Amino acid sequence: MRILVIHGPNLNLLGTREKGIYGEISLETLNGRIRALCAELSAEVDIVQSNGEGRIVDAIQENAYDVLIINPAAYTHTSVAIRDAIAAVGKPSIEVHISNIYKREKFRHRSFISAVATGQISGLGTEGYLLAVRAAVKIAGK
Ligand code: DQA
Repeated sequence: MRILVIHGPNLNLLGTREKGIYGEISLETLNGRIRALCAELSAEVDIVQSNGEGRIVDAIQENAYDVLIINPAAYTHTSVAIRDAIAAVGKPSIEVHISNIYKREKFRHRSFISAVATGQISGLGTEGYLLAVRAAVKIAGK
């Protein structure tokens, strides 16, 4: 089975960005952990990071995958286009947030994505991506 992981805007700055909220590990380290777990579970994985909404829509539409894992970052709270892309493709998807968006500012409480996602993981730090990988493998049933 094949997983597509998408990291949204500003997640390229993981490890330097608001460390008290997003933690100390870099995106490169996180991606290494995701790749290692996927290898252990015999899942193939592609990982994309983009600061651009259109690029994220293209990645959702164009890649071949069984399950999508996406942290839409700030676009979570604004993007009808990303929500529509996930709905249009119609594949299982897991929305991940490093921080607990419901404990933060009110504008972060609304997710345009959650209604079209299979499930959401929020507030478990970067570990949330690894939990999402395990869930993705189960969901794909392979
Ligand atoms: C985030 C939460 C969003 O509100 C924020 O804009 C991000 C990251 C998270 O992973 O906790 O950039 O998606």
